Amino acid sequence: MKDEKIRWGIIGTGRIARAFAEGLKFTTNGVFKAIASRDYERAKLFAKEWNIDLAFGSYQEIAGSDEVDAIYIATPHSSHAENSILSMQGGKAVLCEKPFAVNTKEVESMISESKSQNVLLMEGMWSRFPPLMDLLRDWLDSGKLGEVRTLHADFGFLPKDRNPQGRLFNPELAGGSLLDLGIYPISLASMILGKPSRIETIANIGETGVDEQAAFLFSYTKGEIAMLLSSLECETRQEAFISGSLGNVRIHKQCWKPQKMTFTETNGSNVDTIEMPFTGNGFNYEAESFGNLLLDGKKESPIMPLNESLEIMRQMDQIRRKWNLVYPMDKQ
Ligand SMILES: NC(=O)c1ccc[n+]([C@@H]2O[C@H](COP(=O)([O-])OP(=O)(O)OC[C@H]3O[C@@H](n4cnc5c(N)ncnc54)[C@H](OP(=O)(O)O)[C@@H]3O)[C@@H](O)[C@H]2O)c1
Repeated sequence: MKDEKIRWGIIGTGRIARAFAEGLKFTTNGVFKAIASRDYERAKLFAKEWNIDLAFGSYQEIAGSDEVDAIYIATPHSSHAENSILSMQGGKAVLCEKPFAVNTKEVESMISESKSQNVLLMEGMWSRFPPLMDLLRDWLDSGKLGEVRTLHADFGFLPKDRNPQGRLFNPELAGGSLLDLGIYPISLASMILGKPSRIETIANIGETGVDEQAAFLFSYTKGEIAMLLSSLECETRQEAFISGSLGNVRIHKQCWKPQKMTFTETNGSNVDTIEMPFTGNGFNYEAESFGNLLLDGKKESPIMPLNESLEIMRQMDQIRRKWNLVYPMDKQ
């Protein structure tokens, strides 16, 4: 590493690019260095807003810049694979927003590129990195809940902008609730219960041809069950309930931004509520973790491993096949 701190570049100038830039302010090992847009004027405005010097009018330029160590991909799902591969070909470590890509084939090509370039690659499933999730993993590993038997988790919200051309509803941009929101409960289920042996699903496909809400029922080899939900039609509870033989854990609203959980002992009097408010906006935790991996010369994250991102994408492909929802990217 040329500098003491990781020099971050961001591809894309939308909503989440801003959230990540804000998060970087709260890291100890990273600094926001460069922004890239498809439009140079937009990049310059963003750079001015964030008080940085380097603005690029193309994604190629940031990928090739020797003033950047790591690139955060903040473009619509449909561009994740292309932008990640371009960045890795420029020798950059890549943190790519969720969903990792649109389908399994794309994720395989990203992983293959990371191996051939020997660079760090990680899916930006930011919900896994806040301190509360470290504690939850400790509880699960230590058997505090006993054997986990069920998981309920949901993520639904009502977008103000229902523009059919926007990334949430446009099939050309891989819109729909599954890839945008369903991935959170599905990723949580993967972290807690592993790979499902069976998947059942129902979706409401809207006018633009993408799933506006969907339910997912997963079962596992020892009979465990996960009931998961995503919606772009209404605000849901946005909570997760993990129930085991010895107790259950409720991750309170907004469970995808985890800061509060309650453990309740089965048939007992022990109720314990833990609050761990974010320092920063939450994006700092994944950025800090990624930065530590990069400084240590690691090529993937133990918290969000590449094989698990691939398996989650396989599950989402399987779900879409059941609905006959095909994106243009699937035909390439
Ligand atoms: N972790 C989270 O909590 C969270 C929350 C929201 C979104 N996300 C993820 O972040 C990604 C971006 O979401 P967002 O809400 O930031 O989207 P957004 O506001 O629409 O911004 C996307 C940016 O990507 C660039 N872009 C490149 N190709 C594009 C295209 N064909 N159409 C539109 N924009 C294009 C644009 O920047 P330039 O034209 O300037 O290059 C645009 O500003 C999504 O994959 C989403 O899943 C994550």
